[in-house]
Amino acid sequence: CGIVGYVGPRDATGPLLEGLHRVEYRGYDSAGVAVLHRRRGQDAELRVHRTAGRVDDLEASLPARWRGTPGIGHTRWATHGEPTVANAHPHTDVSGRIAVVHNGIVENADELREKLAADGVVTTSDTDTEVIAHLVAAAFDDGAPDLEQAVRRALSRVVGTYGLAVLDAGHPDRVVVARNGSPVLLGIGEREMFVASDVSAVAAHVSQVVYLDDGELASVTADGYRTFTLDDRATEKRPSEMDVAELEDSERGEHEHFLAKEIAEQPRAISQALRGRIEERFATVHLGGLNMDVREARAYRRVTVLGCGSAWFAGELGAQMIEDLARMPARAESASEFRYRNPVVEPDTLYVAVSQSGETADTLAAVQELQRKGGRVIGVVNVVGSTIARQVDGGIYLHAGPERSVASTKSFTSTLVAFALLAVHLGRMRDLSPADGRRVLDALAALPSQVQDVLDTERETGTVAAVAAELATRESVLYIGRRHGWAVAREGAQKLKEVSYVHAEAYAAAELKHGPLALVGPELPTVAVVPDDDLFDKNASTLAEIRARRGPIVAVGHRDVPNAGRTLVVPRSEPELDPVLLSVPLQLLAYHAAVALGRDVDRPRNLAKSVTVE
Ligand code: G6P
Repeated sequence: CGIVGYVGPRDATGPLLEGLHRVEYRGYDSAGVAVLHRRRGQDAELRVHRTAGRVDDLEASLPARWRGTPGIGHTRWATHGEPTVANAHPHTDVSGRIAVVHNGIVENADELREKLAADGVVTTSDTDTEVIAHLVAAAFDDGAPDLEQAVRRALSRVVGTYGLAVLDAGHPDRVVVARNGSPVLLGIGEREMFVASDVSAVAAHVSQVVYLDDGELASVTADGYRTFTLDDRATEKRPSEMDVAELEDSERGEHEHFLAKEIAEQPRAISQALRGRIEERFATVHLGGLNMDVREARAYRRVTVLGCGSAWFAGELGAQMIEDLARMPARAESASEFRYRNPVVEPDTLYVAVSQSGETADTLAAVQELQRKGGRVIGVVNVVGSTIARQVDGGIYLHAGPERSVASTKSFTSTLVAFALLAVHLGRMRDLSPADGRRVLDALAALPSQVQDVLDTERETGTVAAVAAELATRESVLYIGRRHGWAVAREGAQKLKEVSYVHAEAYAAAELKHGPLALVGPELPTVAVVPDDDLFDKNASTLAEIRARRGPIVAVGHRDVPNAGRTLVVPRSEPELDPVLLSVPLQLLAYHAAVALGRDVDRPRNLAKSVTVE
């Protein structure tokens, strides 16, 4: 979900709607705004407007003469309760003076609701957020002297996670915000202040931002802010400078969708991930952010990679690179499963958390669980200054630039590049020879132009788009591959289902005969990832089995693959890095299938870019 807020002399509606548009990729089931409206000579009055649709619908449906300041807004990704108007944020207290927008989950909401009911408070939504508005009102009833104290007391009763903003008609010059497990930042303007869950919401207006830490609150007025903790101790914050390039990158430009733009940006994203990190002379790499000396790096015996969704699949490929190049046993696991199985944390294992946004709740929880047990965790993260980036003990930033489309593309391939660097780094301190190090580094340097070749070929021939139009008519698509190819297939299937809603399932090619072959026939097409490697013949015989059952086949590989109706050919890299190039046609395939089906490409139903709840 996304939060925005504005405190200043202007009508808040403009900045709120603009900010909501920018954070909408985080959730778009419903949206709402609240402002304080003042009629001459009268007290401020709280006005709330919400819709079950998107920010455009919210804007179109605003009542006439709607204006006011300060204000708060929200765009929601439903967790508790359906995406209805009643469940949309802001939520208000009974008297209609307090409004709250909230990301996260109030774990003891049922218990709090019961207590409130016992005091005669009638709740009007199914959401956990609504109780917070009532708790703030209750704190005033109990004598809280100001909004800051009322919010602080209310939150002391809440168990769970939150990033939130509170508006109160009784304190019309301020917004109070709080953070615990879900990001909140303040944007410092010229006699005006912004609050947001996401830096892109404020980037157009401010050059300095302040990130709140967990357990911290801020009272924000037009000319400044004051931060303090849940137990009411004042805190000191140092504002950070905003990166202007950040804003430019987050515009769609000539592309029809962010997904198309981000696929097209991959050559540049990969170059950025490599910039300044290759040390030609020693055939190794420099990763300053790791904060790890040789002795420490050599003491690790194993590597475990954690992430969710595409970050997990990228981690699978990363683990394979580390195993191949550094000869350390390495594996990847979904961060969400990891955190729930009470993992044994070993001191000689290096843990790597992968996250584009750096905000995924499951990944963050895995990191915290590891650290609690003494594990050392490094991050592979795109968003600078994000929660996971700040939580880990060093790491590698992708520098891929902002990724707005829900489906991850440039951050996926940049993550593979970051892992290749890490694998060479760990490898060169062990048995990886200079020649082998150089082989991989040269291949990395060639990747941007090779990815560009894949994109150019598609622009000239439209082959992938044609294949996509055909697959889009099917109910289901099988993706297969072996070893690296299997992880590529998993990510390919994920892309297709998330943006086109065509069912897709990835299988390790050799496992086909142990079950899913029963499904294969003229109705079920297969996308096969078949690089020209030592497993080429094995893959070819799997395709023969499919062909014998008249299953249509599209292959992705380096040369025409026997039995495939069509092969999408990509340039050859080194085997460790082939997955980068093999992934690109699969991204394009998903994109064109989604366009052919008229889907909401950048904002697929039910999903959100960063899932900051469990
Ligand atoms: C969500 C997104 C996925 C993404 C995953 C992990 O589920 O829809 O596209 O891969 O979160 O996100 P992260 O920001 O941690 O990489």
